[in-house]
Amino acid sequence: MLELTKTGISGLDEILNGGLVRNSTTLVSGNPGAGKSILGLQYVYNGVELFDESGIFLSFEENERDIREAAESIGFENWQQHVDSGDIRIYDKRVLLGENGFNSSLELMLDDLDNEQYERLVLDSLTMFQLFFENEREKRTYLLKFIDILGENNLTSLMTNEQGTVFPDTDIGLENFLTDGNILLLQTPTDAGVNRYVWVAKMRKKNIDSDIFPMEILEGQGITVHDNASAFSMMGEDGPPL
Ligand SMILES: Nc1ncnc2c1ncn2[C@@H]1O[C@H](COP(=O)(O)OP(=O)(O)O)[C@@H](O)[C@H]1O
Ligand SMILES: [Mg+2]
Repeated sequence: MLELTKTGISGLDEILNGGLVRNSTTLVSGNPGAGKSILGLQYVYNGVELFDESGIFLSFEENERDIREAAESIGFENWQQHVDSGDIRIYDKRVLLGENGFNSSLELMLDDLDNEQYERLVLDSLTMFQLFFENEREKRTYLLKFIDILGENNLTSLMTNEQGTVFPDTDIGLENFLTDGNILLLQTPTDAGVNRYVWVAKMRKKNIDSDIFPMEILEGQGITVHDNASAFSMMGEDGPPL
């Protein structure tokens, strides 16, 4: 039977039919503000809190303090405690972009993979990570290799990705083909604020619920997916205005 890694995010594991495929890499795409980073934080945090699984959080966008503040603001009170104990390992922007350089930082991380037992990894964001490569070919080669290494080290990974539209006019990015799964976070403005949705567009080896479900980001709770709400279908007439 396929082994699964639960995200611990209420509603999301249900539409994933149990969770992410173990040792796979899933892309989490969406506009700025869609909730990608929070989903990543929650995935790593839940790993420690609920499943006794350690995690790595790689951030090209924020430093450790910003990450901590974001986590605590959303209600992940024990974030720092888990960082201090080593159950959550952070490689932040300062480390990754710092004086040792990108390559040696990643090598440092790969050494850590050899020595310690981690089950979960988040890369926030792939969009920034990609800027380190000169061309598509180099990027593709490196990304393939990186994804392989993650799987070989028994990591179940999420990579966030800035993506403006669900069906882009331009070519669909390579990263969509290289990863095993694709979760899209969508948001539409309303008078009262914003409506949020999640769509699991792809999950290799696995049957998923491919409808679009409403979700919320709540203080003290993080992301909740309403998997029992009336869902939209991309095939239907009355989906959310994307
Ligand atoms: N403490 C919080 N309580 C409620 N909502 C929050 C909180 N922190 C962030 N958010 C919401 O989450 C959104 C940002 O999510 P984030 O994961 O940073 O987006 P992304 O990484 O996709 O750009 C914000 O626009 C805000 O609406
Ligand atoms: Mg973000």
